[in-house]
Amino acid sequence: MDLRDKIHIDRLPNHIAIIMDGNGRWAKQQGKLRAFGHERGTKSVREVTESSAELGIKNLTLYAFSTENWNRPKLEVQTLMKLLISSLKKEINTLQDNNIKLNAIGDLNALPTKVSRELNDVIDKTKTNDRMTLTLALSYGSRDEIIHAVRDISHKVKNNIISPEKIDEYIINQHLYTRNLPDVDLLIRTSGEQRISNFLLWQIAYAELYFTDVLWPDFSKDDLYEAIVNYQNRERRFGKTSEQLS
Ligand code: IPE
Ligand code: IPE
Ligand code: MG
Repeated sequence: MDLRDKIHIDRLPNHIAIIMDGNGRWAKQQGKLRAFGHERGTKSVREVTESSAELGIKNLTLYAFSTENWNRPKLEVQTLMKLLISSLKKEINTLQDNNIKLNAIGDLNALPTKVSRELNDVIDKTKTNDRMTLTLALSYGSRDEIIHAVRDISHKVKNNIISPEKIDEYIINQHLYTRNLPDVDLLIRTSGEQRISNFLLWQIAYAELYFTDVLWPDFSKDDLYEAIVNYQNRERRFGKTSEQLS
């Protein structure tokens, strides 16, 4: 049986988030420079994006560049920024053809002007698409996101716009970069590392975590299906007992 046929279309995760890791190791295995791995990684981005939309996933969030990734060698950072620009230019058609809306989260002001210009252009051109929202986490760090949220809320408290007693999960959610997104249902990390690396700490409170040894450039449609099948075989109890759910 095809893996795809094992997926229950009526029980899809509403929001899948992926920590795309292992580009450097993949390149090293081929005896190539790290940049080659990043480039091949864009192929997986396209395949996973298209197959998610085709399945009926409503929200896909990809961790593309973390706040900590700014500390990589200057040349690698430059390569990644250039790749981002060329991918945005190239993939606008993929997004339009598949009716996908592009969104971005992170400290976007930290991005080079050329990147933000291209990013805003694609976001604007795809803003009425409604089959799936593809969110790129760029210069994203969960702690940075929380700092920004706390600052914004503090200003509002100071100016009597919000009273401290009114601060609840909803208010906090509304001040995160992800304010327009639902909680994450399934978090996938490739390359065998089993850590969160400052990604969506608040939003994964009840996500199912899925780790695979597959390196990101090798991650295919079937690997995505496998993760979803695995997710669908789990019981999400949200603190309740199993008996309460049935
Ligand atoms: C993920 O691959 C891409 C980014 C973090 C930008 P890596 O570049 O982290 O690859 P490894 O972990 O060194 O193999
Ligand atoms: C996490 O990968 C960030 C992205 C995938 C963009 P890293 O490769 O930077 O994570 P660590 O530093 O090994 O945890
Ligand atoms: Mg890595």
